Amino acid sequence: MNTAPTALITGSNRGLGQAIAHALARTGHRLVLAHRPGRDISETMRRVEEAGGEAMPLTIDIADLDGIRHLRAGLEAALRDRWGSAHLDVLVHNAGIGVFGSLEDATPEDFEALIGTNLRGTVFLTQALLPLLEGGGHVIAISTSLTRHVSPATSLYAASKAAVEAFSRSLAGELGPRGIRVNCIAPGPSATDFNSGAMRDSEELRSAIARSTALGRVADPAEIGEAVAALAAPGMRWVTGERLEVSGGAFL
Ligand SMILES: NC(=O)c1ccc[n+]([C@@H]2O[C@H](COP(=O)([O-])OP(=O)(O)OC[C@H]3O[C@@H](n4cnc5c(N)ncnc54)[C@H](OP(=O)(O)O)[C@@H]3O)[C@@H](O)[C@H]2O)c1
Repeated sequence: MNTAPTALITGSNRGLGQAIAHALARTGHRLVLAHRPGRDISETMRRVEEAGGEAMPLTIDIADLDGIRHLRAGLEAALRDRWGSAHLDVLVHNAGIGVFGSLEDATPEDFEALIGTNLRGTVFLTQALLPLLEGGGHVIAISTSLTRHVSPATSLYAASKAAVEAFSRSLAGELGPRGIRVNCIAPGPSATDFNSGAMRDSEELRSAIARSTALGRVADPAEIGEAVAALAAPGMRWVTGERLEVSGGAFL
């Protein structure tokens, strides 16, 4: 029987989620590639297969509580059908949104969207999938370096991710006795579509960010993916309740 570990990654159709999928495939994981309805997952599928991995797509909108609640039975059946086991070794909460601006410009809708996606999605997807994680599962939440250092116009976004970190740390204590670990990876600015692609497309912003990191540049998404895969590796099995920043030394 194939005993490769199974990982589910939310928001895996592009950006860091795609890079995480690629890195986990390269380290021998079989993958559940979660994405919002109607999104094209074919490029991530192609990259996983190119890395020698196997994957199945799964539709999840993490802002849709009802959808999350009804997800588990179908996922369990699909996992058993495809790989003979419904156990999830790794759950990566990567899907997230950013809303950036001054406090004067913030609206209750911005607040609800940030909390509803970044925090509530992480909380209730973890809750829904807990039975699949029992006895050896590992929850990895993607936070941000902005919970440690301050940048202009990021207060609501940073608060939503700080809440994810606090949730993860407490949950590590709660779930440890059941053999479930919980950790966060906190990336620094990375060149994706995030924040309207600013880190990728604005030379000025990239230079400013590069000057703020010890290593002098913006991250390649692959470097975040590889850090997640390293945290998911067996050699990190004694690590739980931690936040690992992967930012090239931003604002040290
Ligand atoms: N890039 C950075 O500089 C950076 C730095 C630190 C932390 N992060 C965090 O890293 C994660 C990934 O960011 P990224 O750079 O890859 O951003 P991105 O390119 O904007 O991709 C975000 C991903 O999240 C998905 N997503 C958003 N809302 C969702 C929902 N309600 N349900 C399901 N999926 C949803 C998106 O799906 P759609 O394609 O359907 O929109 C997309 O796949 C986020 O949590 C972000 O906060 C990013």
